[in-house]
Amino acid sequence: MTTRVLFVCLGNICRSPLAEGVLRHLAAERGVAGALEVDSAGTSDYHTGEAPDPRMRATAARHGVELTSRARRIEVADFRRFDHILCMDDANHEALLARGAPPEKVRLLLTLVPERGVREVPDPYFGGVDGFETVYGLVHGACAALLDELANTPRDAPGAKRRTDRP
Ligand code: 4NP
Repeated sequence: MTTRVLFVCLGNICRSPLAEGVLRHLAAERGVAGALEVDSAGTSDYHTGEAPDPRMRATAARHGVELTSRARRIEVADFRRFDHILCMDDANHEALLARGAPPEKVRLLLTLVPERGVREVPDPYFGGVDGFETVYGLVHGACAALLDELANTPRDAPGAKRRTDRP
């Protein structure tokens, strides 16, 4: 059974493409890539069609992660397609619910790593280079925790409804 994971941020050029790339990378390392579909989207259409921000790509590349996505805006069809919708900050969360995302599928990404004591993945777009490394550390930890969660409770994880449960 394929588990479908969607990461969401505002522009879909920094945080969520990183999470998409990191989860793919970690899943491949663990030999579970075939069980996952991973994608990302933005709540805005500011950067539709663009490659990830060069600063984010450079940070990911330093850690051996390649980012290959193109920015797109979230669509209503995503709310049925994906089992887990993981967003970066409260504004993304509110925007998703306002567009009709099922609340049980939507979580803040950093709820996967409560021990970090950080609620939101900070938006690095208008900040300095350090911000991108901070984002990498948070996203990497959360993606590893997500794979642990999926391995331990593949069917019972929040939002992981079986296809047969769907209307
Ligand atoms: P992201 O970062 O949401 O992590 O992709 C941003 C990218 C672009 C803008 C804001 C945040 N922007 O305002 O254009």
